[in-house]
Amino acid sequence: MARILITSAIPYINGIKHLGNLVGSQLPADLYARYKRARGDEVLFLCATDEHGTPAELAAAKAGKPVEAYCAEMWEVQDKLGRGFRLSFDHFGRSSSAQNHKLTQHFADRLAEAGLIEEVVEKQVYSVADGRFLPDRYIEGTCPNCGYDKARGDQCENCTKQLDPTDLIEPRSAISGSTELEVRETKHLYLRQSAMRGELRDWINSKTDWPILTTSIAKKWLDDGDGLQDRGITRDLDWGIPVKKGEDDWPGMEGKVFYVWFDAPIEYIACAAEWVEAGKGADWERWWRTDKGAEDVRYVQFMGKDNVPFHTLSFPATILGSGEPWKLVDYIKSFNYLNYDGGQFSTSQGRGVFMDQALEILPSDYWRWWLLSHAPETSDAEFTWDGFQQDVNKDLADVLGNFVSRITKFCRSKFGEVVPEGGSYGPQETALIADLETRLRRYEAHMDAIDIRKAAAELRAIWVAGNEYLQSAAPWTVFKEDEERAAAITRFALNLVPFYAGLSSPFIPDAAAAMAEAMGVEVAWPESAEAALSALPGGHAFTVPEVMFAKIADEAREDWATRFAGTRG
Ligand code: MF3
Ligand code: ZN
Repeated sequence: MARILITSAIPYINGIKHLGNLVGSQLPADLYARYKRARGDEVLFLCATDEHGTPAELAAAKAGKPVEAYCAEMWEVQDKLGRGFRLSFDHFGRSSSAQNHKLTQHFADRLAEAGLIEEVVEKQVYSVADGRFLPDRYIEGTCPNCGYDKARGDQCENCTKQLDPTDLIEPRSAISGSTELEVRETKHLYLRQSAMRGELRDWINSKTDWPILTTSIAKKWLDDGDGLQDRGITRDLDWGIPVKKGEDDWPGMEGKVFYVWFDAPIEYIACAAEWVEAGKGADWERWWRTDKGAEDVRYVQFMGKDNVPFHTLSFPATILGSGEPWKLVDYIKSFNYLNYDGGQFSTSQGRGVFMDQALEILPSDYWRWWLLSHAPETSDAEFTWDGFQQDVNKDLADVLGNFVSRITKFCRSKFGEVVPEGGSYGPQETALIADLETRLRRYEAHMDAIDIRKAAAELRAIWVAGNEYLQSAAPWTVFKEDEERAAAITRFALNLVPFYAGLSSPFIPDAAAAMAEAMGVEVAWPESAEAALSALPGGHAFTVPEVMFAKIADEAREDWATRFAGTRG
């Protein structure tokens, strides 16, 4: 039994995530966690909300709430939506937890001890009216290059020129609009990650089995130089983890907090401690400390491609720089983007389908199946309503759902709700077993390799094979001449239902549970096609399940296409 630690990139607290976010980390991580558990491995699957930083503060202000209260409420919302999508986290934590405060301060202390922290005095824009320093992107003004009047202090959205806040003409605070801005001096901590370039390069080069998307981004930033510049890990903000050295004050850093990207990945570790604190586990260090049992853990991370530099360079720099035996990631599965109907999903414009809306209109299995079978692995992928309707109707309703309903209903009408006895299997059954055995092993290999689209295609082929068998063995025709043989065909086909339940459960857990329940068995991963297809003996009682997948009608599709075109709410 292997031990597998799985984390999904932790979603920002502000706002509900769209389906592009979901398929970029949480959902594939869940697929893998479910698969590994089904195969009998010991899994710890963690995720959390990413709660610090200016966007969270501003979202809270906009909602008219104190930031702590806002985050607590949004955590509830995200937790509930995660459960709605059947995301099987062992713990869904919060980066604002006491555990993360402690660990983040601990890492800063260790890094300072190791001589990897530098104190730098820099000049930054202070807004008198707002009573705070402004991050570059919260300073607006006119672009010196193109004259666009809403250019941000880091970049002009209109002409894409990279800017410094001081380049802006007539700068103002994006928070209050105030022009009463001054440049003030402030001290920050810099992590000297450039000192670790060699060590990081060796580590990344040793990862020859990683997806190309992951290593190409990692290597680009590593060699570009830019990605490994020493970077500020503190901010002049109120909301965040106070800058301290372990338990002790950090002279000159009073009132400052750690940068959100410094503390967020540390939450992967803190989340395991939260899991123990919540009474769900006994020992988190055996998952995270290689001196305390984690040396045989395989750690797999899931994330969108924009997160790759932080996970291949910055977070490993924190871990390696600490000089302590923390577990480093073994495999990073990263994703391209999912686009929406000819454009991008957009949180600010409310364009596309968001997690809450998706669950309002269809059960989670529909989304899980479509999103995972179109996971943006080797290139960006696109959601269109036509494609969604077509694929879901075909794969789930016509192939899988139809198979289950056809065989259970046929059996009920001819033999009652028990698996029929008698008759014998022939070459058709032998051939199907051989085919399914090959496909089962191929499916497992794709799942082990986290090749999600290939795995989905193989699962679909496994469903199709059963449908074709039923179609050609045609027990309804055979029944007229040879009831015994019809009984054997029916028994064989009924045995496919639990087989499908087991194999489908990582993708569509609710439907899998319904199939297994109807057949009076537990969801279980098959040892082999042969063993699985003789599991239900003659005389075993079952029930005909409810319609598993209703088809999406054209009117519904049209309605939804209009409703989600933009401007949420
Ligand atoms: N909140 C970030 C995002 O959505 C991801 C943070 S992942 C972690 O892009 F490493 F910081 F935890
Ligand atoms: Zn411009």
